[in-house]
Formats: sequence, C-alpha cells, structure tokens
Amino acid sequence: MILDVGKVAPHQTYNLLIGLVAPRPIAWITSVDLVGNVNAAPFSAYNYVGTDPPIVAIGVGNRPGPGVIGKDTARNIRETGEFVINVVNEELAERMVLCAVDFPPGVEELAIAKLETAPSSLVSVPRILESPASLECRELTTMEIGRSRVILGQVVAIHVKDEFVDPSGPYIRAEQLHAVGRMNGKGAYVRTRDAFFHIPRMNYQEWLAREKS
Ligand SMILES: Cc1cc2nc3c(=O)[nH]c(=O)nc-3n(C[C@H](O)[C@H](O)[C@H](O)COP(=O)(O)O)c2cc1C
Repeated sequence: MILDVGKVAPHQTYNLLIGLVAPRPIAWITSVDLVGNVNAAPFSAYNYVGTDPPIVAIGVGNRPGPGVIGKDTARNIRETGEFVINVVNEELAERMVLCAVDFPPGVEELAIAKLETAPSSLVSVPRILESPASLECRELTTMEIGRSRVILGQVVAIHVKDEFVDPSGPYIRAEQLHAVGRMNGKGAYVRTRDAFFHIPRMNYQEWLAREKS
C-alpha cells in the first residue's frame, strides 16, 4: 500500500503516522492560564530534540472541525511562556488518559483525576506530585503550521524521584520507572516493565575486530 498524502484525508494520514512513529513517549503537560487555573493534558507528538541546551518539541493539533480552535495547553504556553512535562508511568496511565477529555477551558483536570501538584523550582507552573519525573520548561517558540502548533521548549530544571536515579551517571533507572508509551491511537499503549533488552554499541575498531574473528 502506498499513500499519497496529498490525496487522502488528514485523519487517515494521522492514523498511519501515529501507528508508525511508535511507541511514543507521553508528555503529560501542566500549564497555567492567565487567571491561574492549572491545566493538564497528554501529548505524544513529543520528544527531546537537543541536549545542549536541552530542547523538547511537542505537536499540538487544533481541535477537529471548522475554524481555529486551539487546545488550552498551546494557548497557555503562548500566554505564559512556561510549562511542565510530567512523565507517565503504568500507575498513572489511566489518570493521564482522563486528562485528555475535551473539558472546557478553566476545568482543572488534575482535581478530576485526583492528582496533587507540587511547586516547580524555576517556573511558576506546578508539576504533578505523583509523577516519577518532571521537566520544567520555558517556551522557545511556537510555530503554527497548518492546523498544528509545534512548540519548542527549553528544559530549565529536571525533577526525578530519588528512587529512579542512579547517581553514578547520573542515569535514570529506566527499568524501574515503568514508563508507558502510546501506540496506534486506538487506545493502545505499551509497558516498559520487564521489556528491556540490551545491544552494546560498537566503535569502528571493535567492529573491525569482530569481523576478523
Ligand atoms: C496519550 C495521548 C496522547 C495525545 N497526544 C496528543 C498530541 O500529541 N497532540 C494533540 O494535539 N493531542 C494529543 N492528545 C489529545 C489531547 O490530550 C486532548 O485533545 C486534550 O483534551 C487537550 O487538552 P487541553 O485543551 O487542555 O490542552 C493525546 C491524547 C492522549 C490520551
């Protein structure tokens, strides 16, 4: 099957892309509106795209239908320039999905999902207390491309619960963190518990030595 993206409906392209660019990490984003309401919503069009400085990218689509109805998260980030990305583990997955309900602006998803917040250290947006880790971010830019907003943010502080930090690197004890990923959009997610395998990376000399042996 070959799809000419110019000839199919956007939702068909979406269905294929999210099934193929997978599994995806989930940015559970907290943001604050101009009157101080805390908003929380998940976004899996997400990754880090730089480390020095640390940069993350998030894709936020407009709501379906005619006209431009942006999502609260994108609006809040534009208006305040700050947000926090909270990491989602197995234990939090159902409550994360609850935060994706299209509640009207001003509804505090975290209260509905029975989650608590904790103050951040450098930004005024709170983080989700129950989350194993959170990235405090400042907006670098928001690009509007068609019906999407691509947000680039700079990570300014990183919180990790001590139990998930191996101080020797420091590294993240990823095998213990049990992060979840999003798959094809039909409500499918993946666990990372007991799912790790390791492939040591070689340099050229090691590869040559292996070829000769
Ligand atoms: C796991 C998951 C991942 C999602 N990823 C995205 C995404 O990358 N981009 C997007 O626009 N919406 C995504 N959504 C939908 C938003 O979370 C949803 O539209 C939410 O209501 C937006 O909330 P807000 O208006 O408070 O920002 C996702 C939903 C779920 C459950």
